[in-house]
Amino acid sequence: MASIIAVANQKGGVGKTTTTANLGTGLARRGFRVLLVDLDPQANLTAVFGLERGLAESIGTCLMSREADVPILRIEDVAGVTVDVVPSSLDVAAVESALVNKLGRELRLREQLGRVQSQYDYILIDTPPSLGLLTINAMVAANWVVIPTEARFFSMQGLDMLKESINEVLYMNPNLKILGIVVSKYDRRLREEATVNEFLRSTWGENVFATEVPTNSKILEASSAGVSIFAYRGTKKAVQIYENLVEEVVARA
Ligand SMILES: Nc1ncnc2c1ncn2[C@@H]1O[C@H](COP(=O)(O)OP(=O)(O)OP(=O)(O)O)[C@@H](O)[C@H]1O
Ligand SMILES: [Mg+2]
Repeated sequence: MASIIAVANQKGGVGKTTTTANLGTGLARRGFRVLLVDLDPQANLTAVFGLERGLAESIGTCLMSREADVPILRIEDVAGVTVDVVPSSLDVAAVESALVNKLGRELRLREQLGRVQSQYDYILIDTPPSLGLLTINAMVAANWVVIPTEARFFSMQGLDMLKESINEVLYMNPNLKILGIVVSKYDRRLREEATVNEFLRSTWGENVFATEVPTNSKILEASSAGVSIFAYRGTKKAVQIYENLVEEVVARA
């Protein structure tokens, strides 16, 4: 039965999608069966796997209708590693408001993933930068939350807010736990970032993964090229970093 991991942080641009794509592909390279769910109307994860346009079905389809199947697309990268992806699209933004009037609106994703959970070892859910109904659906469906964050002052406040939301979700999903906080886009040369990183580790302790993801031009280039870092050339350093993160995730979940 798959471990379900919601990758969440209501702060924008902190590395949620990049973490989901590279952690997911990294787990698949280790031989795990992986499903990646794009729950963000921005559909960035969908784009990372080159799936941008003309998709007939998205995650929105099966959130709106209990009868609809989860639309799963199989992606094989240049190295022959496969991951399954549930794509998103812009109209998923409308799903969020449409769900407000529906019964069991927080449980939609949990129900749908329950149908496919036995086919996977890990299901990772990429969420939008808000604590709205889509993110709540992800956290209700998940066993774990992975929280990418920048080492910046305002990010620290954001983590406290996210923790409050997680506490609220416990009411519906008492099994939800923080798997770990990933320091992303880290620039150790900036005194502010080094200081916040230290503070983050002293405050959140074991919750913070040892692996830090530095700001790295190849990580940026790979996502805009529509591939994970494992399929992009010249990324030896970045690959090593995500392999380390995969190790930590496997050890914890
Ligand atoms: N380690 C890194 N080094 C350099 N650029 C990075 C790194 N990680 C992510 N980026 C870039 O930073 C931008 C934001 O990252 P990403 O899309 O993963 O964040 P996000 O939290 O998913 O954003 P959103 O909240 O909009 O969904 C992207 O352009 C991405 O390519
Ligand atoms: Mg994103």
